[in-house]
Amino acid sequence: MSAGTGNGAAGLNIALSKGRILEESLPLLARAGVVPVENPLQSRKLVIDTNLPGVQITIIRAADVPTYVQFGAADLGIAGRDVLMEYEGDGLYELLDLRIARCRLMVAEPAGLAARDDPKAWTRVRVATKYVNITRRHFAAKGIQTDLIKLYGSMELAPLVGLSERIVDLVDTGNTLKANGLVEVERIADISAWLVANKASMKMKHVPLKALVDRLARAVGSNA
Ligand code: ATP
Ligand code: PRP
Repeated sequence: MSAGTGNGAAGLNIALSKGRILEESLPLLARAGVVPVENPLQSRKLVIDTNLPGVQITIIRAADVPTYVQFGAADLGIAGRDVLMEYEGDGLYELLDLRIARCRLMVAEPAGLAARDDPKAWTRVRVATKYVNITRRHFAAKGIQTDLIKLYGSMELAPLVGLSERIVDLVDTGNTLKANGLVEVERIADISAWLVANKASMKMKHVPLKALVDRLARAVGSNA
C-alpha cells in the first residue's frame, strides 16, 4: 500500500527513531556512505538531507516507523524486530538484518517467585507489557490464557508495585532486571534492528532503492 509520496519520484526517505536506533544507525549509514548534513542527535529538525542527492532521513518515534513505511511516507525504515513483530499492518518488506540494537524479548518475574515457579504448569498468566500482541501470540501458541496489562515503558516496575508478577520486556545486559529483583524465565525472541521497505517503493524506485540497500548490506557485512 502506498498512500504517501515519500520523498518524491526520484528521492528516497529513510525513517529512523531517536535514541538507540539513531545512535547505532548513524555509524552504519556512514559506513554505507550516507551522512546527514546536520547531526540528527542534536538537531530538532525532523527531515534532514544527507550528502547523497535526494536521500533524506526522517526522525520519528520507534513504534511509528512501520506505519510511515507501510503508507509510503517513508520508502525505507529502520525498526527493531520487536516493533515489527508487534505491528499489525502489512505493506512492508523486511529486507535486511542490520545486526544493531541487539537484545532479547523475555518473560521475567521476581526472583523469589521464579524459585518456586514452573512455567510448564502455567494455564493462565497476568502479564504487564508494551508488547501485547506478541505476548498474546506467544502464550496462545502454548495454550496459555493471558490477562494483559498494556504499559508504555518501565515494565520492570509492574511486579514491584503489584500490577502484575510477570512482565514481557527487552533485556540486553540484564542490569535493569537485576536492579529490580527480577529474573528471565522464558525467551520469546532474539531482537535486532531491521531495514524495512515500502512495497510500492520497491517497484517504483527499484534502482536507487536497491543501490542504497546494497550499500547498507555491504556496511553490515563489513562489521560482521
Ligand atoms: P520511544 O522512546 O519512542 O518510547 P523506545 O523506548 O522503544 O521508543 P528505544 O529504547 O530507543 O526506544 O528502543 C528502540 C529499539 O532499540 C527497540 O525497539 C529495540 O529494538 C532496541 N532496544 C531497546 N532496548 C534495548 C537494549 N536495552 N539493548 C539493545 N537494544 C534495545
Ligand atoms: C530497555 C528495556 C529494558 C532495558 C534493558 O529500556 O525496556 O528496560 O532497556 O536493558 P538492560 O538489560 O541492558 O538493562 P530503555 O533503556 O530503552 O528505557 P525505556 O524504558 O525508556 O525504553
